[in-house]
Amino acid sequence: MKLVKVRDHEEMSAFAAKFILDKIKSNKKVALGLATGGTPVRTYEMLIEDYQKNYTSYQNVFTYNLDEYEGIAPDDPNSYHAFMFKHLFDHINIPKKNVHIPNGLSNDILLEAINYEAMIDEIGGVDLQLLGIGQNGHIGFNEPGTPFDRETHVVTLTESTRKANSRYFESNDQVPKKAITMGIATILKSKEILLLASGESKAKAICRMFTGEPGTDCPASVLKNHPNVVVVADEKAVSKLEATMNVELLLR
Ligand code: GLP
Repeated sequence: MKLVKVRDHEEMSAFAAKFILDKIKSNKKVALGLATGGTPVRTYEMLIEDYQKNYTSYQNVFTYNLDEYEGIAPDDPNSYHAFMFKHLFDHINIPKKNVHIPNGLSNDILLEAINYEAMIDEIGGVDLQLLGIGQNGHIGFNEPGTPFDRETHVVTLTESTRKANSRYFESNDQVPKKAITMGIATILKSKEILLLASGESKAKAICRMFTGEPGTDCPASVLKNHPNVVVVADEKAVSKLEATMNVELLLR
């Protein structure tokens, strides 16, 4: 894992936007794994700004989102589906048929998970997977304890994740209890991974993912087993790691 230390959220977003744009511009066809949450929102804004200024085309970009809540309709404003259209897809020229997000309303959610994984296998894994990180080290919705060999599956969200995500809902009770998520094995199929972290609330998870052996107590720590990972963390997110070790050794 390579670490890129940046000053703040803005610098992290600019790095990520450029990284993604370079991929889009240098490939005829590109499969992007995308994430939700507050972390990538500014990155997506920067992609939109670039689109408006430079007309970078998304006609040959195919997207595969990490996860979706179970039991929420795609047009529900709290769905990750709605999130992605609001924050990115509605503002760029990506064909709707190129967008893939698990269907949380599927009649057969287990079959939905199997089909989603098969679709990713068909393309041989995404070219670039964008990830945020949960305060407890989760990636996608793979909570601590998730075996590293899990593929796309249905999860019961932990209370801490439901609480962290309740800011998007009117009340805590409205946060769904389950979600469908790419598994850790699915994420590891990506050719390249870009993980973003900003703010003090991520400092503990960032510290754990870089120190010690990969372990299911911190799902993000599995990324040590992947050959092509870049972690972009701002000063606050990297603060605990810096107190523990000399991060200069990790910087690219
Ligand atoms: C959610 C998402 C994750 C995301 C995490 C962190 O649980 N499923 O993909 O990385 O939250 O969210 P935030 O970026 O808002 O801190």
